[in-house]
Amino acid sequence: MTEPVRIGVVGGGLMGRELLALTRRWTALVDHPSRPEVVALADPAPAVQEWWTAAGVGTVTDDYRRLLDDPGIDVLYLAVPHDLHERLYLDAVAAGKDFLGEKPFGIDLGAAERIVAAVEASSSFVRVSSELPFFPGAQRAAALVQGGLLGEVLEVRSGLLHSSDLDRDKPLNWKRRQATCGELGVMGDLGMHAAHLPLRLGWTPSTVYALLDDVVRTRPGPDGAPQPCDTWDNAVLALTVDTDRGRFPMLWETKRIAPGESNTWYFEAYGMAGGVRFSTRSPQTLQRFGLIDGEQAWSEVQPGHRSVWPTVTGAIFEFGFPDALLQMWAVFLAERAGRLGDRFGCATPREALVSHRVFAAALASHRSGAAVAPG
Ligand SMILES: NC(=O)c1ccc[n+]([C@@H]2O[C@H](COP(=O)([O-])OP(=O)(O)OC[C@H]3O[C@@H](n4cnc5c(N)ncnc54)[C@H](O)[C@@H]3O)[C@@H](O)[C@H]2O)c1
Repeated sequence: MTEPVRIGVVGGGLMGRELLALTRRWTALVDHPSRPEVVALADPAPAVQEWWTAAGVGTVTDDYRRLLDDPGIDVLYLAVPHDLHERLYLDAVAAGKDFLGEKPFGIDLGAAERIVAAVEASSSFVRVSSELPFFPGAQRAAALVQGGLLGEVLEVRSGLLHSSDLDRDKPLNWKRRQATCGELGVMGDLGMHAAHLPLRLGWTPSTVYALLDDVVRTRPGPDGAPQPCDTWDNAVLALTVDTDRGRFPMLWETKRIAPGESNTWYFEAYGMAGGVRFSTRSPQTLQRFGLIDGEQAWSEVQPGHRSVWPTVTGAIFEFGFPDALLQMWAVFLAERAGRLGDRFGCATPREALVSHRVFAAALASHRSGAAVAPG
């Protein structure tokens, strides 16, 4: 039995379009309990509206209230600039809607606290968008860690690295202005991606020491004239994690200017007994460390197309970014339908809140020059 799920999208830009595309590839999923269809878009930009109309979406409006008030819409996808998160997410909860909300889940810690408090006091089913841990290599790495591969943990590293901001002529957009992206800058944009898997594995930072860089201070505005570009471009967070067996260091790296890295998500964990390394730069391979015949050895594993939710795609074939998004939505709707079981779930509002606490501590660390405990 598959249940139809009618989705309304608020914000039809880069991410909203990805959702529309993936719902039209839904038959790739095997025995999924839901059958989603995007039936409505709210976005004030005329060019965006034209694209969605041409794509055959029935309701296209500039007023997101129409989607919130429509009893025919079961689920919302909220994918708007960060300064709009709080109002929109609170309105969606008040309207009793289920939704997948884009990260960072509020422009700052205060907004995240208010959103998560409202979500947790409601009966809405809400999750946070973070798709990159759905790469099979990341999933295999997580399973190996959960299976005890590491032994005593020595060090964990995760990050998301971009490089297109190396181009100083790249025009200014909302993600590069504090007013719309938030004081967090690159941490608001990329931080949840670095945080999701470590937090899911139970590694909550105890202290944060931040190195934040604002390298490019102006970018061309709409008329080509330089405008202030006042967000952090790169953030390196040196964290400590306390466990029953002691304290270990963890590094979260989020960069818009990482030369040569187009969209590199990586996760590495090292312990006294073993280790794992996975990067979307080489998405078909996962490296694991251990002893082979008493010798220290890194070995290479090909995780294949073994996804959290099964697909018709053969296990030998390659997995990519659109597949990760399809998996995230498959998992979101399966959990909403009560059919996720023990599979890896989407990031939770509470995980987003913890990540915000770490990022707020990072800003405080940058100001004071000292390590700060997240509040
Ligand atoms: N999960 C990911 O990998 C990923 C990647 C990129 C962006 N994001 C997140 O997705 C969200 C959107 O980013 P994007 O890259 O799609 O941005 P975008 O600029 O491409 O799209 C945002 C859209 O929101 C629309 N919008 C603005 N005000 C609105 C309003 N009042 N009502 C409805 N729509 C409105 C804009 O017209 C635009 O079309 C952000 O939270 C961002 O951090 C996530």
